[in-house]
Amino acid sequence: HWTDEEKQIITSIWSKVDLAEIGAESLGCLLVVYPWTQRFFADFGNLSSATAICGNPKVRAHGKKVLTSFGEAIKNLDSIKKTFASLSELHCDKLHVDPENFKLLGDVLIIVMASHFGKDFTPAVHSAFHKLVRVVAHALALRYH
Ligand code: HEM
Repeated sequence: HWTDEEKQIITSIWSKVDLAEIGAESLGCLLVVYPWTQRFFADFGNLSSATAICGNPKVRAHGKKVLTSFGEAIKNLDSIKKTFASLSELHCDKLHVDPENFKLLGDVLIIVMASHFGKDFTPAVHSAFHKLVRVVAHALALRYH
């Protein structure tokens, strides 16, 4: 369900993404803007303020892990459900993450990318990425369905 143009747009901008930096900022932003998500990361240490969250090495490392995982979705655009089947099991059955939070993470990823890429984050890029984060959120939530 992807057009060639969407695939090209997504893979091209993704090749310029610094996974460590954008990952750290995105997870940090999620934890700051939607503080109830901190509940899942109670063993990550100091999350007491925005400064603490953004400098927290565990948040940074986990953010990179999450973005690397997004990269797997991008490599497998036509089989995202299959690619994320075991991650869906982990997040739904073991971690019990409310699937609304998958959407929130996708939203902050778009904001962080837009702030990094500036005018290169065109409406077409936004649109393709918005579709991507929704497909990823849906795939991660499948175990709940
Ligand atoms: C773990 C991906 C969203 C909570 C993980 C792992 C990956 C991942 C790759 C590591 C799995 C492993 O170690 O085998 C993603 C992706 C998301 C997402 C692609 C995209 C939407 C979320 C959200 C939350 C969350 C929104 C909670 C608000 C967790 C927790 C862990 C985890 C608590 C275990 C962390 C640990 O103790 O190491 N996720 N995740 N994830 N995720 Fe997510």
